[in-house]
Amino acid sequence: MSDTPTTSSGRRSAAVAPLIPRTAVVPAAGLGTRFLPATKTVPKELLPVVDTPGIELVAEEAKSAGAERLLIITSPGKDGVVAHFVEDLVLEHTLAARGKESMLAKVRNAPSLLEVASVIQESPLGLGHAIGCVESELADDEDAIAVLLPDDLVLPGGALGRMAAARARYGGSVLCAIEMPSDEISAYGVFDVEDDPQDPDIKRVRGMVEKPAPEDAPSNFAAAGRYILDRKIFDALRQIEPGAGGELQITDAIALLIEQGEPVHVVIHEGTRHDLGNPGGYLKAAVDFALDRDDYGPALRAWLEQRLAKD
Ligand code: UTP
Repeated sequence: MSDTPTTSSGRRSAAVAPLIPRTAVVPAAGLGTRFLPATKTVPKELLPVVDTPGIELVAEEAKSAGAERLLIITSPGKDGVVAHFVEDLVLEHTLAARGKESMLAKVRNAPSLLEVASVIQESPLGLGHAIGCVESELADDEDAIAVLLPDDLVLPGGALGRMAAARARYGGSVLCAIEMPSDEISAYGVFDVEDDPQDPDIKRVRGMVEKPAPEDAPSNFAAAGRYILDRKIFDALRQIEPGAGGELQITDAIALLIEQGEPVHVVIHEGTRHDLGNPGGYLKAAVDFALDRDDYGPALRAWLEQRLAKD
């Protein structure tokens, strides 16, 4: 049977992709210690990939996937992160008066993407704790949230849409995984999975191991920073105990959901990721994005070739 929906007039309409949750949550209240001293005063989410902060790239991804609202979790004193999404009329008028149309378009992009709200996490008590802070901001009919970690760029776009389709089919929570080579797997959270006979790109999650030794890794599927979490995650977060460093881990809450029999799946993303949370990963992202740009790419490529020839 075709799964193309039929309209009330009896005519077939084009298949409609399931919507991702209305609210895209972006946790940005961490300390960013791996990026000190820069992050002493500059939030790592505002560090530019070429000229655009990582958090703006992630907001664009949420918008393209169909989210309506960006809910930024921030910490006391990190006001710049939310300010980036607020119109700056003085700057806009100055650019307009000077005829700087392309700069004006760049400045207007972030505030025009999505409705933006924020919630404060008073202390950096872990990603799980941060996500727990958003529950009271949700409407009663929001039965799931999307979570996008702003220091993880998942390329190309489209992962959230496939995750929403998986949730529409299986219910529960859906995470994103990228297959990594065995010698790199120890840097990540790794999924213990069971194949789905109907779809090689979706797997049921049995468990998760944080940063395993290569010989102990249950698979080569590493967690990427994209989640669609059923609202039941908030009950699970209330039930778990803080782990290392007194932090509430989101992986512990997801493990509890699995234990309670809730469906948890991963969508295998065919693509790459950049970890903007450490200088090494950030530099790779900046070079990767710059090489693709018409304005900076050719000169950077020529310089890199010369520079590498010297080694
Ligand atoms: P990370 O562990 O990558 O960020 O958390 P961090 O803690 O800022 O970085 P390091 O380890 O000290 O260098 C992933 C995401 O979760 C957010 C971070 O801001 C980041 O976007 N986070 C983490 C919170 O919002 N609150 C927390 O308590 C911890």
